[in-house]
Amino acid sequence: MSVAPTRTLSTDPGTEVPVIGFGTYPLRGSEGVAAIASALEVGYRFVDTAVNYRNEREVAEAVKASGIAREDVWLQTKVPGRDHTGARRCVETSLQVMDLDYLDSVVIHWPNPSRDEYLTAWEQLVEAREAGLVRHIGVSNFTAAHLDRVVEATGVTPFANQIELHPYFPQEQMRAVDAERGILTQSWSPIARGGDLFEKQAVVAAAEAHDLTPGQVVLAWHVALGAMPLPKSADAQRQRDNLAAASVQLGEDEVAAITALGRADGRLFDADPDHHEEL
Ligand SMILES: NC(=O)c1ccc[n+]([C@@H]2O[C@H](COP(=O)([O-])OP(=O)(O)OC[C@H]3O[C@@H](n4cnc5c(N)ncnc54)[C@H](OP(=O)(O)O)[C@@H]3O)[C@@H](O)[C@H]2O)c1
Repeated sequence: MSVAPTRTLSTDPGTEVPVIGFGTYPLRGSEGVAAIASALEVGYRFVDTAVNYRNEREVAEAVKASGIAREDVWLQTKVPGRDHTGARRCVETSLQVMDLDYLDSVVIHWPNPSRDEYLTAWEQLVEAREAGLVRHIGVSNFTAAHLDRVVEATGVTPFANQIELHPYFPQEQMRAVDAERGILTQSWSPIARGGDLFEKQAVVAAAEAHDLTPGQVVLAWHVALGAMPLPKSADAQRQRDNLAAASVQLGEDEVAAITALGRADGRLFDADPDHHEEL
């Protein structure tokens, strides 16, 4: 079995994190367990779940079924907006549901700025980390203002910021914001859920040049940008192909041509973190 290659975390140089992780939304039930177990079998060692995906139990079952040692797989969950003021309790519940002693990472799923509770959530995640419930704490869908507020208040920098990132929405500015602060950018919907992206000339040309699938080209583009993509697939062959993109190197021109597919309105469902509410 070939296992996902890793990189070093800037916020914790002693820690290695896989270059590509596995997204699990909306995998649920016995089919979900089978798909997640398959991902582990083909070599993924980072699994992204969330309280709101209602599949933490499935993730835990798949890890147990895989026989992979707990310390060899990175498990990440997310605190939903409704639990910002009870974030520590939320982490404890996730641990119970997953029958785990610790999580590798927990991130705040959305800032929900209109409720103005994300700083409380961050302070509670800092406590949860100090209590040993979680090794690394991070955020998702945070803007520069949200990041700066939590860092200034607590002195603790998120290890990662998981944001919408794909060729239609390349997020130059947010990637720079994360990089300046030493924060790992994780990409959600990294292949823009497939679709017509795979027919774009920049993607097709690179696929032909390197004998890759379009999905592999797009995932290799993330790797070239320094971001960590979290593709979801329920299909073992696509899981394997997607993971293999971790060791593909695109040329600078190819990366630039794919980035040029970006559009100001390129978000998949208009989820601007300053306004989008998700509880
Ligand atoms: N933090 C957040 O707010 C947030 C928001 C959205 C998503 N996420 C996370 O990001 C993960 C990924 O995002 P996503 O699931 O929205 O989108 P995605 O990974 O970009 O796309 C998934 C879709 O693409 C298909 N697919 C996967 N690999 C393929 C390939 N090589 N060729 C053709 N089709 C392929 C999958 O179908 P098959 O299963 O049939 O292969 C699935 O329909 C989620 O699972 C979740 O963990 C986080």
